Amino acid sequence: MAEKGTVKIEHVSKVYDNGTVGLDDINLDIQSGEFVIVVGLSGAGKSTLLRAINRLHDVSKGHIYIDDQDITTAKGKQLRHIRRNIAMIFQNFNLVKRVSVARNVFNGRVGYYSSLKSVLGLFSKADKERAQENLKRVNMLDKYYTRADQLSGGQQQRVAIARAMMQSPTVFLADEPIASLDPKTTRLVMDDLKRLNEEFGMTVIVNLHSVPLAMAYATRIVGLRDGKLVYDQPIENVSEQDFADIYNESEVQD
Ligand SMILES: Nc1ncnc2c1ncn2[C@@H]1O[C@H](COP(=O)(O)OP(=O)(O)OP(=O)(O)O)[C@@H](O)[C@H]1O
Ligand SMILES: [Mg+2]
Repeated sequence: MAEKGTVKIEHVSKVYDNGTVGLDDINLDIQSGEFVIVVGLSGAGKSTLLRAINRLHDVSKGHIYIDDQDITTAKGKQLRHIRRNIAMIFQNFNLVKRVSVARNVFNGRVGYYSSLKSVLGLFSKADKERAQENLKRVNMLDKYYTRADQLSGGQQQRVAIARAMMQSPTVFLADEPIASLDPKTTRLVMDDLKRLNEEFGMTVIVNLHSVPLAMAYATRIVGLRDGKLVYDQPIENVSEQDFADIYNESEVQD
């Protein structure tokens, strides 16, 4: 089956155990190679949506198809195979702090190894080369042997991108990847994502609060409010005024 990075979300709702509605009947059809930016107020459901796409948590209703395979019902080996195609980075980077950049990046490959081999760090020569290639892509190869906790936030995020690329994903998810970075580093990280999107035709879905960044990088903007999809337009149709509507009129943020 062709793996291209399409994401089809059909009637997805998520109710948390405490009764909070995280998502309310979301429908979205994302094509291969799109750069989708999801915006909305805090609590709108952005993280809930990303976590549902790679099944970090289960949905309560509906289905999500990654390249026509239903990740919401997949089990065992099939689930692992679907998830290999979906990479994710987070606001707080989630690197293993006390080990080298190289080792962190190898960790991105563990989906392809037996658990014993990955625990022992028995990574192949090809994967070491792949790690170097991915670090080069984000301009971090010179930090190969550096411990992760000696990097700045921006550098950590770029290593996290290199690690995520080790999966050879077709879908790349980023949950507020630049929320704790300065404006210049923010651009570097967003440029990395854009380059991967353009170079590999990778589908990228990013949660963001910044209107200018959304306007600069997205090919499509999706807006959530109270768990509902309230906006979905290709970038050429988007005006800044639309954000005011998504953010409940008065609360436009930058
Ligand atoms: N683990 C959880 N248990 C219960 N409710 C949760 C949980 N995680 C999120 N929620 C609730 O689900 C709703 C959506 O939360 P979510 O984290 O997806 O919002 P968000 O758009 O990512 O917000 P932010 O911009 O602050 O990151 C909120 O009402 C939130 O309180
Ligand atoms: Mg969030």
